[in-house]
Amino acid sequence: MEQIKKYVNDNRDRFLEELFSLLRCPSVSADSKYKDDVLKTAGLVAQRLTEAGAENVEVCKTAGHPIVYGEKIIDKNKPTVLVYGHYDVQPADPLELWETPPFEPTVRDGKIFARGACDDKGQFYMHVKAFELMMRTNTLNSNIKFIIEGEEEVGSSNLETFVRENKERLKANVVLISDTAMISLEHPSLETGLRGLAYLEVEVTGPNRDLHSGVYGGAVANPATILAKIIASLHDENNRVAIPGFYDDVVELSSEERKALNQAPFDEKEYKEDLGIKEVWGEKGYTTIERTGIRPTLEVNGIWGGYIGEGAKTVLPSKASAKISMRLVPNQKSKKIEQLFKSHIEKIAPPYVQVKVTIHHGGEPVVTPTDSVAYRAAEKAIEESFGKKPIPTRGGGSIPIVSLFEEVLGIKTVLMGFGLDSDNLHSPNEKFDIANYFKGIETIPLFYKYYAELSR
Ligand code: BES
Ligand code: MN
Ligand code: MN
Repeated sequence: MEQIKKYVNDNRDRFLEELFSLLRCPSVSADSKYKDDVLKTAGLVAQRLTEAGAENVEVCKTAGHPIVYGEKIIDKNKPTVLVYGHYDVQPADPLELWETPPFEPTVRDGKIFARGACDDKGQFYMHVKAFELMMRTNTLNSNIKFIIEGEEEVGSSNLETFVRENKERLKANVVLISDTAMISLEHPSLETGLRGLAYLEVEVTGPNRDLHSGVYGGAVANPATILAKIIASLHDENNRVAIPGFYDDVVELSSEERKALNQAPFDEKEYKEDLGIKEVWGEKGYTTIERTGIRPTLEVNGIWGGYIGEGAKTVLPSKASAKISMRLVPNQKSKKIEQLFKSHIEKIAPPYVQVKVTIHHGGEPVVTPTDSVAYRAAEKAIEESFGKKPIPTRGGGSIPIVSLFEEVLGIKTVLMGFGLDSDNLHSPNEKFDIANYFKGIETIPLFYKYYAELSR
């Protein structure tokens, strides 16, 4: 631990500066305008892996954005850790809500503000620096394979193909990912599950063109009104999702499991204050921790139609649309939920409009084991660096490739995240605490130490 601390301290400024240069790259995967920036970022990631000591580093072309691969095989008989992360980021808009520009990393109050600071550049880069540390201090005791992709935020579909085609190259004993959150530095935790995702778009079309809302309004159905009614009908009076069959496959937790889950520290007053809300909301009969961890949900991610420019324009829009996602829990299947949603919407669509449902990317839920050697190694590593045993929690977000690593490669994952739920992932003013960044770099080598020890 002393040697780790010394190496990190001696290289503090450089470790920060290197992360900043990565954060300056606008690697927005969703927007084709940034295609070249995404490609350049992949090149930079590859260069940094090489500098840290990785071999066979490659920027692998895909049908979309490239995947960066690198490895260090020290001994074929030793266990192999597959480190996964993503160098792509979410779009930064609305830009006007950022206090400092999203791609000019700025430190305020001990925190790095930038798009991708926490999700996931700041987090995967901890692994690159921990790897450098182990290489330079001659302490690497397992094989490492890095797979850093550029399409996580758009569903990882090309990575899926890559994984299926590169089973031998990706062979490993465990997947290690830092792309989730912990409760706080005082209450370190390890996520032991991720939700799945089904994402769809609904387009409601009425008249064949935008109409004068005085001349035609009241006589022609307004697609925006119809869409609003459809959306409003998707939750019942108990805030449960009102799509027939939606809950059919949901695994209910035992009361002991629920009790354990709710043991995690959670301050509802602080939660509400942080978000600026008066009351929490959600499925009746479940706590906030359960609503965001073990229960499936449905959210509107965007809704538009008609005139949204300055001032007022009297118009009855021809079309209105919404992007809707559902978070899934074990044993729900994204394909089945997509179909349930689609047929339900088509069934309830009134005859005055046409409704089109398009399916976007999805992903399956996962639960990661807490009795594995790798989980215990993560637990011991965190206990040593934080002075406290981590609390197991269930994450609300999704990382689609995790279930595929399990299905295609047969490897389980450890989710050793160092972010915070309040880091503004996908929001304006995304941040990552500098303290968490360095804590991560210090904890990761301990994971390798205990993983090798416990594997023996
Ligand atoms: N890192 C997040 C997932 C996450 C965040 C897990 C916080 C647990 C806690 C990841 O980058 C992400 O945002 N995933 C997307 C899914 C993807 C298919 C767009 C998500 O969860 O919305
Ligand atoms: Mn992420
Ligand atoms: Mn994300």
